[in-house]
Amino acid sequence: MKISFTRTGAFAKGAVVALFAEGGELPEHIVSLDKRAGGLISRAMKSSEFKGNKDQSLSLVSPVPGVELLLLLGTGKPSEITAREVELLGGAIAGMLQVSKAKSAIVTAFPAGHKLKAGQAEALLASGLRLRAYRFDAYKTKKKDPPRLDSVIFQSDETAKAKSIFAALDAVAEGNHFARDLINEPANILTPEVFADRVKGLVKQGIKIEILAPAQMKKLGMGALLGVGQGSPHPPRIVVMRWDGGKKGEKPVAFIGKGVTFDTGGLSIKPAAGMEDMKGDMGGAACVTGLMLALAKRKAKVNAIGAIGLVENAVDGNAQRPGDIVKSMSGQTIAVLNTDAEGRLVLADVLWYVQHRFKPKFMINLATLTGAILVALGKEHAGLFSNNDELAVRLADAGLMTGEKVWRMPLAPEYDKLIDHDVADMKNIGNRFAGSIVAAQFLQRFVNGVPWAHLDIAGTAMDSVKSPINQGWASGWGVRLLNHLVMQHYES
Ligand code: BES
Ligand code: MN
Ligand code: ZN
Repeated sequence: MKISFTRTGAFAKGAVVALFAEGGELPEHIVSLDKRAGGLISRAMKSSEFKGNKDQSLSLVSPVPGVELLLLLGTGKPSEITAREVELLGGAIAGMLQVSKAKSAIVTAFPAGHKLKAGQAEALLASGLRLRAYRFDAYKTKKKDPPRLDSVIFQSDETAKAKSIFAALDAVAEGNHFARDLINEPANILTPEVFADRVKGLVKQGIKIEILAPAQMKKLGMGALLGVGQGSPHPPRIVVMRWDGGKKGEKPVAFIGKGVTFDTGGLSIKPAAGMEDMKGDMGGAACVTGLMLALAKRKAKVNAIGAIGLVENAVDGNAQRPGDIVKSMSGQTIAVLNTDAEGRLVLADVLWYVQHRFKPKFMINLATLTGAILVALGKEHAGLFSNNDELAVRLADAGLMTGEKVWRMPLAPEYDKLIDHDVADMKNIGNRFAGSIVAAQFLQRFVNGVPWAHLDIAGTAMDSVKSPINQGWASGWGVRLLNHLVMQHYES
């Protein structure tokens, strides 16, 4: 879909979306439409008590020749609206336009009096629209309801600024959509090798890519990750992405993702009901990949590493057994008491590898790690665990700004004790309680005091709650959050 910005525009064609501030006046162009319609628009506003309150809308079909639809939307008081709300409004507009069947639309400038930067409101509307306009229909052989809307023009008094702000937001939307695509893809198609191949495509964006195959992992001693993959005919991969947009020699920031392309549970097999959702157990890896794409596309001034551990947790005769003891790259040994607690085993080796190879400023890992995080936080917040207060606060703030919210959970030696084992250095599960915290404690044994945060996204990455900017099963959660974090604090 083509999105563009214009100072003025042709207002008498396709769909016209007019933004109306509470207590404000009709945009000029709508006044002239109203005249042509013999006062129909102002009469409709009066009779439906449309006053421009927040979330108020009024739609009129064919009010004048050429205009298929006029959508009047209330913004509430512009001085009170936040960036986040403007973006959601853009998403809501996309939703309404999709049902209208209009091919083109024009959106009037955001009402004056808001506290955003010049051009930012229109750019955010466009971003919300872009995020909402996602579809995953690669497997529909008969397209029932093809999207018709192919061009949207945003009116703005600051077109140059709106355009440049939108260019960055559009890069982030593209990263978000790439993550959604990867998560939606079924596991018979998206094996570790295929996932790695798709990531390879990012070299076109100036991202450097390295792919580790099992032979190299064996050499590095990654027994924890390899154990998870040994029951699958699809061998694991680790993909390391590098975006060098910052100062030469400056320490990179590092993002690490759990990429279990399918999680059967292994021999500690999962129940049948709902197992199909485990194609999304690579949501952390998808987010890291989408984030790297976003950073490269908007030429972020940062050195960033993305590293993803891709492996299928399957069951054949060679699958690892409950009770097996594996040796991680760190040298620490792990008794695998439950083969379904596999994500932490994968991350243990990738976290170790990244900190030793790249000496990052911080490591943030994302993982659909525990069902228990859904019990604790539901689907509104991801679980945040961190050994670093500054990083935790920055993540929480970025969550509020983007709507990808996180909630901090505790780490403490008392929880750490729960994974001690009598024979090995540790076991991969605790007792019945505090499952998400125990998983985080396990990861912490592989971070060595490097500033680190773990985001448990089992509740937010897949089977997501619907919102104006996402109607699908895969939300691409985390791309916007981490992009915001980088933008606010780590660009030179
Ligand atoms: N991938 C799952 C966690 C998960 C559950 C993600 C539901 C999304 C939705 C993870 O590998 C897992 O199986 N965790 C176990 C850990 C347990 C065996 C300690 C769990 O949560 O049950
Ligand atoms: Mn599992
Ligand atoms: Zn899993």
